[in-house]
Amino acid sequence: MASNHLVLGIESSCDETAAAVIASGRRVLSNRIASQVPMHQRWGGVVPEIASRAHLEQIVAIVDGALEDAGATLHDIEAIAVTRGPGLVGSLLVGMEFAKGVSVARGIPLVSVQHVAGHLYSPHIGRETDAWGTSVDEATPDEPYIGMAVSGGHSSIALVESPLSITVLGETLDDAVGEAYDKIAKLIGLEYPGGPVVDKLAAIGDPERFQLPRPMLHRAGFDFSFSGLKTAFAREVEKLGGREAIAGDDVVIADLCAGFQAACIDVLVGKARRALKEHGLKRLAVVGGVACNRGLRQALHKRLRGTAIALPEPEFCTDNAAMIAGLGWHLHRAGHHSSPGVNATASLSLTLPEDGWQV
Ligand code: KG4
Ligand code: ZN
Repeated sequence: MASNHLVLGIESSCDETAAAVIASGRRVLSNRIASQVPMHQRWGGVVPEIASRAHLEQIVAIVDGALEDAGATLHDIEAIAVTRGPGLVGSLLVGMEFAKGVSVARGIPLVSVQHVAGHLYSPHIGRETDAWGTSVDEATPDEPYIGMAVSGGHSSIALVESPLSITVLGETLDDAVGEAYDKIAKLIGLEYPGGPVVDKLAAIGDPERFQLPRPMLHRAGFDFSFSGLKTAFAREVEKLGGREAIAGDDVVIADLCAGFQAACIDVLVGKARRALKEHGLKRLAVVGGVACNRGLRQALHKRLRGTAIALPEPEFCTDNAAMIAGLGWHLHRAGHHSSPGVNATASLSLTLPEDGWQV
C-alpha cells in the first residue's frame, strides 16, 4: 500500500498528544487527539511537567489508534513526520524520540516539521479542493497566500508561496493572541482555555463600553504585541474594584470580553488587510486555535470583501497531527529527511532552511 503515499504524523508540542495518517498530503485517513485540557484546567494554563508525563502515557495508544483507524500498519507508511519545534521541549521530546525510534526500528524515513508551518498548511487538510474551493490535483501547491497563524503559542503573519516556501512578515513581540485570551479569562475568573468562553460571552456583550487599545495596528510592519492590551484590560478590572467585585456580574464580564475581543479582531483584521494589499494578494488563510473564534470569522468575511478566506475546520485549527503529516508529505517528496541524531528544540525558524528543519 506504499503507493497510497501514506504519512504518519506525530504532534506533541504543547498539551495535545496527536497522531494522524494522511494520504498524499491531503486526505485524512485518521486523526487521533488526546487533549490534556482537563489536567491543566485547575492551574489555569499548561504545566510543562504534567504535559510531558501525559504525552508519555498517551503516545503509544494514540499512534496505534491512528494506524488502526486508517486501516494501516507501519508497513504501509512511506514517511513519519514529527513536530520538532517550537514548543515545550519536554513535550516535544516525547513525540520526537518516539518517532525516531519507530523510524530507525522499521527503516521508515523521518521528516522534522515546524509546528507553525504545519498550522499554515492546515487549510489544505481534508479537502478535495484547494483551501479556497478550487479543484486541484491532490497535494498540488496552491497559489500564494497570506497566512495568519494565531494560537496560544504563536501569532505570525507570513507570505506562503508554497507549502515549503514561507516568508515571515511579522510575529508577536510578547504574548501570543491566544495566550492573551487565556490570561484575561483567568483574570476575571473564567475557565481555561479562555478563548472559547471569552468568544461566547463577547457575542452577548457591548464592545463599546470598555475602550481598549489596538496595539501596533497603525505601526508600520506586521509585528503584533498583545501584552499591553492585557495590561489595559487588567486596569479596567482594577477600576471596577477587582475580580471579586465583578464576580457574578454577568453583564460586566460579557462587556469586558466583548471589549477585549473587539480590540483583538481590529488588530488581526487590520494587519491581514494590509499584508494582502502590500503583496497584491486576494487569498488569506487564518489558522491556529484562535481561528476558531466566531467573532473573528464573521469580521474577516464582513470586512475583507473580495478576499478569498480559508479557515480550517475547527478540528484542524487547534493542535493536531494531520497538518504535520500533510506538510510532512511535501518535505518527504522534497527529500528533507532527518537523521536519528535530530533533537527537539523549543525554538525553530518558520522559514524552511535549505536542508529542511532537521538541523
Ligand atoms: O493551536 P492551539 O491548539 O495551540 C497552540 O499552538 O497554541 O491554540 C490554543 C489556543 C488557546 O489559547 C485558546 O484559548 C485559543 O487557541 N482558542 C480560541 C478559541 N478557541 C481556542 N481563542 C479565541 N477564540 C476561540 N473560539
Ligand atoms: Zn499550535
